[in-house]
Amino acid sequence: MKAILAGPVVALVMALGSGPSWAADVPPMWAYGATEPTEVRLNTMAKMPPVVIPPAPELDDTKKLSLPGTTAQFTAAQIFNRYAPADWFPGDHPEMPEIVAKGREAATRPIWACAGCHLPNGRGTPGTANLTGSTFEYLMQQLYDFKNGRRESSDHRKVETQLMVAFAKAMTSEDIEAAARYYASLKPAPWITVVESDTAPKTEVRDGIFVPLTGKSAGTEPLGNRIVEVPSNLEDFEKHNPRAKFTAYVPKGSVERGESLVRTGGGVIVPCVECHGDNLQGGGSFPAIAGRAPSYLMRQMFDMQQRKREGLLSIQMAPLLYSISQDDMLAAAAYLATLAP
Ligand code: HEC
Ligand code: HEC
Repeated sequence: MKAILAGPVVALVMALGSGPSWAADVPPMWAYGATEPTEVRLNTMAKMPPVVIPPAPELDDTKKLSLPGTTAQFTAAQIFNRYAPADWFPGDHPEMPEIVAKGREAATRPIWACAGCHLPNGRGTPGTANLTGSTFEYLMQQLYDFKNGRRESSDHRKVETQLMVAFAKAMTSEDIEAAARYYASLKPAPWITVVESDTAPKTEVRDGIFVPLTGKSAGTEPLGNRIVEVPSNLEDFEKHNPRAKFTAYVPKGSVERGESLVRTGGGVIVPCVECHGDNLQGGGSFPAIAGRAPSYLMRQMFDMQQRKREGLLSIQMAPLLYSISQDDMLAAAAYLATLAP
């Protein structure tokens, strides 16, 4: 009990003693696709603003693009079509239900195709979520949590999460069931390489994720106390290749520290393996957390700690996260990303 009570005190000291970007209640920018700290103080209990659907970008619809491993060709406009995004590898997944492949085009309460952000194979990107490997029961609960306003983002600027909430609110129970059944049926695959390093590529934010700068601006910079996660191949990212791989630069020593915390609980908390399973691949109402984007993992832990994600099941996690530091969460995310999903 003593150890558990120590958490908030330490957090308070951190908040008072360090600059704003490391105050305990300021979202770690690297996990939210942000380059400036958010001005919204979390303790104001402010709710996320309602979504403003961004206007569709003007994209080229003449030049056919290709990818290795498929004869399919799509224009940029087809690749990023909100209501029928390109499906480069139809053989990689079962037939998608309508809501996943097309969403629902409508003047009010539209739903973009889930496949646009989570990809037809469910792997998603560091800016969205990997939906493979978790159970039907867990995915259903999450969709209802978004729908019922129990899951949002600590960083109110995170447009993709605002959109996710808006789409879940517009979904019918049939939509939710069909999508959860589809994504629960998909097999996870490894997609992240973790590199322990003192430096990381210089990046810019595009579509909510960090991508390496190219040309004259390319280079490296000190990594510091963050994880920098980038597409391993920029062309894959630009063409929305669902087989795209990512590289995560994590601080030296963080993987081993994370392993100890996840497996033993560091003497402070219930070890993560107790609930998420020895292989961290979840089961039942426990989500798979192995082999996920470390930015996603960090974002979720932080959001639960801040009670911005407080769905029915999150009550099991929130108190335990309150007892560990942001550095511990970063280390756990780094270690978890090295595991087979
Ligand atoms: C605009 C992009 C976007 C679209 C389109 C989208 N999502 Fe999401 N989804 C997200 C983001 C972002 C998250 C993670 C939220 C966060 O990190 O704050 C998410 C999270 C989820 C989760 C929770 C995953 C977990 O492990 O807890 C589920 C389930 C989900 N989405 C299902 C869907 C379904 C079904 C659809 C189609 C109706 C859909 N999403 C469409 C962006 C999107
Ligand atoms: C007492 C059981 C329990 C323990 C111990 C536990 N978790 Fe969880 N965890 C859960 C449950 C239940 C959820 C689903 C929460 C929800 O639905 O909002 C979850 C969700 C998560 C998520 C979000 C996954 C997603 O797909 O969105 C992450 C990340 C996570 N846990 C990491 C950890 C880490 C790291 C530890 C150890 C430091 C840990 N958990 C310990 C029960 C537990």
